[in-house]
Amino acid sequence: MKKLSARRRHPLAAVVVLLLALAATGGLYAAFAPASKAQADETAQSLAIDEGKKLYSVGCASCHGTGGQGSSDGPSLVGVGAAAVDFQVGTGRMPAQQPGAQIPKKKVIYTQAEIDQLAAYISSLGAGPSVPTKAEYGPDGADIAKGGELFRTNCAQCHNFTGKGGALTHGKFAPDLEGVAPKHIYEAMQTGPQNMPSFPDTTLSEKNKKDIIAYLNAVNGDDTESPGGLELGGLGPVSEGLFAWVFGLGALIAVAVWVAARTAKAKKS
Ligand code: HEC
Ligand code: HEC
Repeated sequence: MKKLSARRRHPLAAVVVLLLALAATGGLYAAFAPASKAQADETAQSLAIDEGKKLYSVGCASCHGTGGQGSSDGPSLVGVGAAAVDFQVGTGRMPAQQPGAQIPKKKVIYTQAEIDQLAAYISSLGAGPSVPTKAEYGPDGADIAKGGELFRTNCAQCHNFTGKGGALTHGKFAPDLEGVAPKHIYEAMQTGPQNMPSFPDTTLSEKNKKDIIAYLNAVNGDDTESPGGLELGGLGPVSEGLFAWVFGLGALIAVAVWVAARTAKAKKS
């Protein structure tokens, strides 16, 4: 007992205790500290893939095969990429319900977090286009006039001049593009859903896609007025011609009838 208290009083005792305490906290920290950022991202990614795989087995495997290899009811998803999944599920086209000429948009049944998990799983099967970022589809630096020109040469033959949509052969149709999210417009161009051709960056550069989205936003957004006044459905020369015939000629006939009635009255009196 005496010996111990003598040691405690030794001038170096405080230093030794301090060093021991420091070593202990350091060790504890190393044992319990959160894993490094890269490791954390990796675990989050593999968790997303696992969750996505579960969602996939329940909602998609019946048509696309247990490993995404495809079946008689749905194509292979190997290599379609996260962009295709985000578009198809994010617009409610997938999971498909009944067979028909074209799989239509429906109410979206997955949350965006679940869609991201499905996308993570499917892109783990084979590399494909990734989901575009806001910098790619956002309006910053876009040229609306150029976008209009590109839209008329690449898209208007199916979607009409201002994107109001139109019928195609065999019960298929190009949908109205009003109200479609910029991200989904970008993904549609990237992946070419169903009867739409795809426009990879070699055909329409990233900048071209951004311009087209800005154009669609300008002609369809609620914050902009039609430059010519009443837009008549934006259907082009046919509806505008019809308007001229019905209302223009109608007005002329009305004037003629009125004049005739007046002259007839004037003659009588
Ligand atoms: C009832 C069957 C069915 C179900 C269920 C289904 N799909 Fe599909 N899916 C199809 C068919 C058929 C197509 C092809 C449509 C076409 O291009 O004509 C398709 C196409 C796709 C495409 C586009 C592939 C490409 O080449 O761009 C993706 C992505 C996709 N499905 C994902 C999913 C996901 C994810 C689920 C589950 C949430 C799902 N599908 C559920 C039948 C189904
Ligand atoms: C050959 C005709 C054709 C051309 C050309 C075409 N599309 Fe499409 N587009 C379609 C069809 C058909 C669909 C419907 C596909 C589906 O439902 O999966 C579609 C769907 C879309 C959608 C999804 C709309 C929605 O409601 O979710 C967008 C966005 C779109 N097209 C944009 C474009 C743009 C932009 C261009 C030009 C760069 C273009 N399309 C060129 C036929 C076409």
